[in-house]
Amino acid sequence: MKECRHVAIIMDGNGRWAQAQGLPRTAGHLAGSDNVRTIAIAASEMGIQYLTLYAFSTENWKRSKDEVGYIMKLPAYFFKKYMQEFLDRGYRMNILGELDALPPATEKVLKDAMEESKKNTGLNLNICMNYGSQREILLAAKHYAADVLAGKADLNLDEAGFEKYLMTAGFPPVDLLIRTSGEERISNYLLWQIAYAELEFVPESWPEFTPDVLKRCLEEYSHRDRRFGGVKNV
Ligand code: IPE
Ligand code: IPE
Ligand code: MG
Repeated sequence: MKECRHVAIIMDGNGRWAQAQGLPRTAGHLAGSDNVRTIAIAASEMGIQYLTLYAFSTENWKRSKDEVGYIMKLPAYFFKKYMQEFLDRGYRMNILGELDALPPATEKVLKDAMEESKKNTGLNLNICMNYGSQREILLAAKHYAADVLAGKADLNLDEAGFEKYLMTAGFPPVDLLIRTSGEERISNYLLWQIAYAELEFVPESWPEFTPDVLKRCLEEYSHRDRRFGGVKNV
């Protein structure tokens, strides 16, 4: 099987999934959060080392106060229910995004999850919360500029050097980006990191995204010819 170390998923379609069943949109977010556990386990068992999930974007603050408030409470529910199991399985939790702009209780739950799992060497379960890729790149550029002004960095920065300023520092590039629910756009996700990723858009909404659908995505990926600007492998 072609190596696939890093899978990123835009977990989309929770709201429509719930509404199609006459449920409030928040019911979709709840089902979606439980599905994070299911897919993390499946991904780890399929040999994926980094699973990076888009949970809440810098643009999602535009939603109703009720919906945003509900999503902000989900990490407490999710980690209370599953953290021990993740620790037992050796997963390492990384949270990407501007955490200090979250409600303090949400920020604490997320930071605790990172702290408690930081020595683990199994699956890297990366959850993007209040994450936007343009913002990430802007913050990286500011951080680099500050290092230059402080005499800690010079102007000979290359791509690998710049990556160290991103929230994904130390992670390999994304091999496969999946978006659920039939939408075919990137929505400000991992713009730098997906430079050479394979892209797959699946019709299933996130709560319907089963381990079998993940397997189908990896199967499709295994048939892609990744050329990275070179010539076709024959
Ligand atoms: C993805 O599902 C979860 C978040 C963006 C927080 P949506 O809530 O976007 O669901 P749809 O796309 O409206 O169905
Ligand atoms: C992208 O989904 C963000 C997450 C999945 C967290 P959205 O539903 O917010 O994206 P748009 O608005 O349809 O582009
Ligand atoms: Mg959506």
